[in-house]
Amino acid sequence: MANIERPLSPHLQIYKPQITMVTSITHRITGVALGVGTLLLAWWLIAAATGPEAYEVVSQFLASWFGRLVMFGFTWALFYHLCNGIRHLFWDAGKGFELPTMRKTGMAAIIASVVLTLLTWVVAYGIGG
Ligand code: HEM
Repeated sequence: MANIERPLSPHLQIYKPQITMVTSITHRITGVALGVGTLLLAWWLIAAATGPEAYEVVSQFLASWFGRLVMFGFTWALFYHLCNGIRHLFWDAGKGFELPTMRKTGMAAIIASVVLTLLTWVVAYGIGG
């Protein structure tokens, strides 16, 4: 077969990043991250039901710097996915498809997720240390 120069459909290396694509891709990534993070939640609950030694192992991990980093990422993923998920629910109702609105709600979801994550951690450190 001769090498025919056919047009390619646009892909990631061709598209200039736009807020609409970034929020969409991030929604999928955070959805998958939440699925993995839920395993951590299950580990915590199973350890609590198993006994003090098992619970101690999980507590040690969660209290370590790495455990806190993972939990921080999980918190942000949850808030981002929640905020952007609410955006999706408006779309499901047929609202918010105009490009300027899409850009504004996309930025709002990103900013709200960061603010909610920081607030949660400030409150958590305030209560528990
Ligand atoms: C731990 C909890 C959650 C997990 C594990 C999770 C996971 C996922 C995954 C894996 C997807 C598919 C992403 C894709 O293939 O593009 C998804 C989509 C979605 N999630 Fe979640 N999610 C969770 C919580 C939430 C919450 C709290 C909301 C709040 C509104 C939400 C709203 C949505 C919506 C609207 C979609 C569909 C997006 C689309 O149509 O492309 N999710 N979720």
